[in-house]
Amino acid sequence: MIGLSKLTSQHFQDDAVPLELLQQRAFNSRWAQQEADVIPLTAADPDFRICPAIRQRLVDYATEGVMSYGPPLGLPEFRSTVAQWFQSNRGITCGPEDVFATDSAAAGMAAIARASLEIGDEVLIPDPVDFLFEHTVQRAGGIPKRVAISYEMTAAEYIEELEKQLTNRTKMIWLCNPHNPLGRVFAAEWLRAVANWSIEHGLKILSDEIWSDIVYQPHVHTSVAALSPEIAQQTVTVYGFSKNFALAGLRVGCLICADPLWREQIVEAADAPSTVFGVSVLSQVAAIAAITDGGSWLTEFRQHLQDQRDYTVQRLSAWPETKVDVPQGTYVIFPRPTHPHIEELVEEMKRSAKVALVPGSARWFGPGAVGHLRICFATSRGILAEAFDRLDRFWAQS
Ligand SMILES: Cc1ncc(COP(=O)(O)O)c(C=O)c1O
Repeated sequence: MIGLSKLTSQHFQDDAVPLELLQQRAFNSRWAQQEADVIPLTAADPDFRICPAIRQRLVDYATEGVMSYGPPLGLPEFRSTVAQWFQSNRGITCGPEDVFATDSAAAGMAAIARASLEIGDEVLIPDPVDFLFEHTVQRAGGIPKRVAISYEMTAAEYIEELEKQLTNRTKMIWLCNPHNPLGRVFAAEWLRAVANWSIEHGLKILSDEIWSDIVYQPHVHTSVAALSPEIAQQTVTVYGFSKNFALAGLRVGCLICADPLWREQIVEAADAPSTVFGVSVLSQVAAIAAITDGGSWLTEFRQHLQDQRDYTVQRLSAWPETKVDVPQGTYVIFPRPTHPHIEELVEEMKRSAKVALVPGSARWFGPGAVGHLRICFATSRGILAEAFDRLDRFWAQS
């Protein structure tokens, strides 16, 4: 049995999960929206309190008591902190002027779609991938074209799939790295090949890197915009603080765009200059604290998650005829049990085993997800073990 590593910090022990608060505050298919006896391994949102340094910074800032308007593109300190972080951690050549603070990664994607697409323009998106890809393209009047992707697929194979969906209406390609729900981390050479193909075809690139801090050794994250100045000019990188620092409720993210004209169009499309759009100053303060003072908490969180990942893989190996790909990054896993109706299976698991999972349905991830389940393991070992014990009993009875 895989145990927790000796180094697992107090922040991620069983008694660190604030269950009563989660039952009041964790929405989006999680504790606050489930019956009291159901364990929700559903939306990718950790069950832990945020890093103490962020909590302290929020308290200090609120106590000072000044909450004036911020500038439309984000606080100067937010923009410079993010730029420095991307320079030093991702090798992206950027300055504060390239950074735009967004009201979540999701809002960043929506603004990029609105700025970059005309009605009927096509966007190549992976199949499967998080539902926001399809949703934000469609909301902007664009047409998402699904491109089959898998955990093993080489760049040459993916390019072959891209070629099949390319038309004269194709304007963009959207990448998800690390990939939700596959858990794959794309290597530099894979990204370079796909980015070069995209540029050859005149496509702009959106790279969603919200998961880029949750990568397990020996894998490393590569930002596509770091690969060459030419790729950087054609790319907008989307980033956020919901997954790495558990700040989903603060709705804060950012994007990095080296092309000043494109960036201006995105800012306009977001409607930031009018103040209709704008990230709460308090949320930006939390994000600054995360980057400047959250490093050791994040390292401990990642260690805990790696232990949880290994444990999850081990528990899934006991399931009947279930295909499991080991996540290289993210804290979701995407097994494929042998079952003809996955949505019914998920319903049944919730009803009789009292464990809620996300079905791999077209609605959430695209048609390529059908037959899979998505399980989030960003919880304590105690809760995860209890969920798997319940599911073992479920399988034994079915
Ligand atoms: C790939 C991906 N992009 C974007 C988001 C949305 O993040 P945010 O909470 O910052 O809107 C998620 C959340 O699950 C995600 O998995």
